[in-house]
Amino acid sequence: MRIVLLGAPGSGKGTQGEKLVAHFGIPKISTGDALRAAVAAGTELGKQAKATMDAGKLVANDIVIGIVEERLEQADAVRGFILDGFPRNTAQAQVLDKLLDGHHQQPIDKAIHLAVDDEEIIRRLHERAVKEGRHDDKPEVIRHRIEVYNAETHPLLDYYRVQGKLATVQGVGAVDDIFQRILGAL
Ligand code: AP5
Ligand code: MG
Repeated sequence: MRIVLLGAPGSGKGTQGEKLVAHFGIPKISTGDALRAAVAAGTELGKQAKATMDAGKLVANDIVIGIVEERLEQADAVRGFILDGFPRNTAQAQVLDKLLDGHHQQPIDKAIHLAVDDEEIIRRLHERAVKEGRHDDKPEVIRHRIEVYNAETHPLLDYYRVQGKLATVQGVGAVDDIFQRILGAL
C-alpha cells in the first residue's frame, strides 16, 4: 500500500495516518514531523527551516525531497508507506513519481483527500494552539497556511484525479468514522 494523504492544515492527515500505520503495519513519512524534529534537535537543516515553518510558508523543495528520499530508502518502507504532508506542490509530486520509479518501487496506489471546511480547520488549530503551542498555530499563520494550501497543494487533487488515484473522504466527524471511510476508499 502506497498512500498519499492530502488535505488542508488540520484536516487530520497526522491523526488518520497513525491509524493507517497501526492497520497496515507500514511506516508513515511526515515531512512536517521530520522538520519539527530537526528544529527541536537544532540541526543545520532545522535552523534553515524554522523561520519558514513559523511563517506558514513551504520549505524549499530540495530540503523536503531529500528527507523523503532518505526515508524511502530504509528497509521498512519497501512494502509500502503513508505520506503525510508530502507532496505539497506539483513539482514534489513529479519528483516522488520519479523517485519511486528510479528505486524500482511500485507507484502510488491512492491519494486520499480529507475534505474539511475552513471553519472546522480554524477551530481545530486554535484548540491545538492552546494544548500544544505549535509555533505555526497562531491565527495569522493559520490563515496563511490555508492560503498556501489552496494555491500550492490543492492543484494536486487534479494531479491524482487524472491518474484515477484520487479519493475524497469527508474529514469531519468522529476520528473512527473517518478512518472507516478511508478504508472503504482504499
Ligand atoms: P505539516 O506538519 O504537514 O502541517 P499541516 O499540513 O499544516 O497539517 P497539520 O499537521 O497542522 O494537520 P494534520 O492534517 O496533520 O491534522 P492533525 O491530524 O494534526 O507542515 C508544517 C509545516 O512544515 C508547513 O507549513 C511547511 O512549512 C513545512 N512542510 C511540511 N511538509 C512540507 C513539504 N512537503 N514541502 C514544503 N514544506 C513542508 O489534526 C489537527 C488537529 O485536529 C489535532 O489537534 C487533532 O487532534 C484534531 N483532529 C483530528 N481529527 C479530528 C476530528 N475528526 N475531529 C476533531 N478534531 C480532530
Ligand atoms: Mg500533521
